[in-house]
Amino acid sequence: MYQNLKGKDLLSLHEITTEDLYAILDLAADLKAKQKAGIEHHLLKGKTLGMIFEKSSTRTRVSFETGMYQLGGQALFLSKNDLQIGRGEPIRDTARVLSRYLDGIMIRTFKHSTLEELAEYASVPVINALTDLLHPCQVLADLMTIKEHIGQYKGKKLAYIGDGNNMAHSLLYGCTKVGMDVAIASPQGYKPDETVVKNALAEAAVSGSVVTITDDVHEAAKGADVLYTDVWTSMGEEAEREQRLKDLAGYQINAALLAEANEGCIVMHCLPAHRGEEITEDVLEAQADVIFDEAENRLHAQKAVMALTMMD
Ligand code: CP
Ligand code: NVA
Repeated sequence: MYQNLKGKDLLSLHEITTEDLYAILDLAADLKAKQKAGIEHHLLKGKTLGMIFEKSSTRTRVSFETGMYQLGGQALFLSKNDLQIGRGEPIRDTARVLSRYLDGIMIRTFKHSTLEELAEYASVPVINALTDLLHPCQVLADLMTIKEHIGQYKGKKLAYIGDGNNMAHSLLYGCTKVGMDVAIASPQGYKPDETVVKNALAEAAVSGSVVTITDDVHEAAKGADVLYTDVWTSMGEEAEREQRLKDLAGYQINAALLAEANEGCIVMHCLPAHRGEEITEDVLEAQADVIFDEAENRLHAQKAVMALTMMD
């Protein structure tokens, strides 16, 4: 099997090569087919993944945990309320201790620097299961879903409508890596991080993607093959909710905006969704096949990441 990711971390799609990205997507499709056919694929027999959660989760927790079982290993759910990090034990000590027991560590946390410190001190692979900056595992599942529903990346356009957040950032990295055009429409004050945009433009210069950063949802939706959105208020931003509802009000995927996109345009959402805010009920339900395929693909994409990073 492909060896380049063995023993490595997955912190950001920007930090892996295009070859690594395709290796993950190819293995994910293979593992999905095997699971559907009932073919055993115990690539991580006897291995243990630790899953540190400092924020809530439905999809990430269940898909990583189930995925690890399907690969023949086991997973430990480690909530910050139960770990000593909740009482002040430094992340660098936690990293070194957990590395003595585990074969891999997955973390969902706030600051991206916490993830980076964990990875620096851990001697086993570390997987980013969402930080305030990035959500790479979601975008691996998204790219898999786009391939399944649209068939190709080059010459196609994804338009992200809403908050320039961790999802917008990882979509910028993922799309530019595979040569897909990407537009981000968000209001002033909610623009994607400048360094992420700069890095994505550098990726685009290699892959040929066109990157558009705009305030104008109509400009973004024009010519789009995928419309994508995410919550206006991310985990940790709850105190800003009222302000965000006002500031992001025009940045919704609804039937009128979808009508401005290309014929056959699909709608994606990483979930959880807030109906009536970033997406309307009718659009979400009409696109449920795509959106729940996207959620399912978290399982297959992450199994590929775990197998490629944690295998012997
Ligand atoms: N999309 C996603 O990561 O969902 P959870 O927060 O439920 O894990
Ligand atoms: N931007 C959202 C993504 C949830 C999967 C958040 O960080 O809460």
